[in-house]
Amino acid sequence: MTSAVAESPALSSVPESAPSIGLIGWRGMVGSVLMQRMVSEGDLAHINPVFFSTSAAGKPAPEFEGSAPETAVLQDAYDVEVLAKLPIIVTMQGGDYTKEIYPRLRAAGWGGIWIDAASTLRMSENSIIVLDPINREVIDAGLTAGVKEFVGGNCTVSCMLMGLGGLFRQNLVEWGTAMTYQAASGGGAKHMRELLNQFGHLHGAVADELADPSSAILEIDRKVLSAQRGELDASQFGVPLAGSLIPWIDADLGDGLSKEEWKGGAETNKILGRGESLAPGVDRRGDSIPFESLCVRVGALRSHSQALTLKLTEDLPVAEIEQIIAEGSEWAKVVPNEKEATMEQLTPVAATGELTIPVGRIRKLEMGPEYISAFTIGDQLLWGAAEPLRRMLMIAIGKL
Ligand code: HSE
Repeated sequence: MTSAVAESPALSSVPESAPSIGLIGWRGMVGSVLMQRMVSEGDLAHINPVFFSTSAAGKPAPEFEGSAPETAVLQDAYDVEVLAKLPIIVTMQGGDYTKEIYPRLRAAGWGGIWIDAASTLRMSENSIIVLDPINREVIDAGLTAGVKEFVGGNCTVSCMLMGLGGLFRQNLVEWGTAMTYQAASGGGAKHMRELLNQFGHLHGAVADELADPSSAILEIDRKVLSAQRGELDASQFGVPLAGSLIPWIDADLGDGLSKEEWKGGAETNKILGRGESLAPGVDRRGDSIPFESLCVRVGALRSHSQALTLKLTEDLPVAEIEQIIAEGSEWAKVVPNEKEATMEQLTPVAATGELTIPVGRIRKLEMGPEYISAFTIGDQLLWGAAEPLRRMLMIAIGKL
């Protein structure tokens, strides 16, 4: 493949044959995690990155360890002519950017592969939701059939499937429910800051009383509540999150369901290749599995947790269920259903920054021998966002 933007001097020692890959939104939260992961995995040795910006075109392009940008300066992310020279574009810029640029690129005749973190194209009939440890066959079938839209899944769904994918892939789930405990990072960087500022504000409101072990706890409680109801900046979440929770995430679909809850069922089935939402050339792999959620924002920082109830299609011993989960992907890790192991290994604090997806609290329920509970956690920015995109890029260029 040829260099995308011939007039700028190539700074890189990457072989000429490495494809030019457009990277958009690399500076944001998801983009930064993606770049960190690409550096850690040595991915940049396989590509010539072309860095774009929506606001700083012409400024120096960044250099990451293991590579150098193909062009010395940032390219304009709204310049369809420059974008259209690239065989593959990876964007973490967000849904508004996708909505504006993607149709223009296709209208200009661009035939390249679009890899996107935003939800805009997830349920498009031409797209595949990527989570290759779970749906590599679906991705490969799509690539063979000429599918060009590959979209990262909703973070909660991707993390759930990375933990429990073994059961789904073996057709052992008749139906499921997820009660989620989603971190502030799902809202974005500003939401994380807001949560931390709220915690700080609440502590400040009662710092004197906390320093005095004999102060009255109900007075502390009253002051905290008063701050929560009156003084906290909640401009991102809309209502206070610190010391509270919000049992609604994303838009109100008007039928009692939040958009996040709708995504749980729709995307789970699309990733698995079940039901109707399939891309051209991808064989349907069975009927939809009913999967319901109740999604809740909690004061965790960047790992999403969820409590699941699954009805299995068979009465399997717990040890066998654990083995199927552990073998479902190399990243799923069963945590023994015991207090100490759970407290040490099955918390957002333990899971953050890790690719491993712990799955614990696995036990049979009183409702019947096919019913089980499970609790799983995933770093919302790793498997929940950046990692499936990074891997899709490597698949697209034949390196994974
Ligand atoms: N919608 C998710 C959340 C994050 O708000 O937590 C992105 O998948």
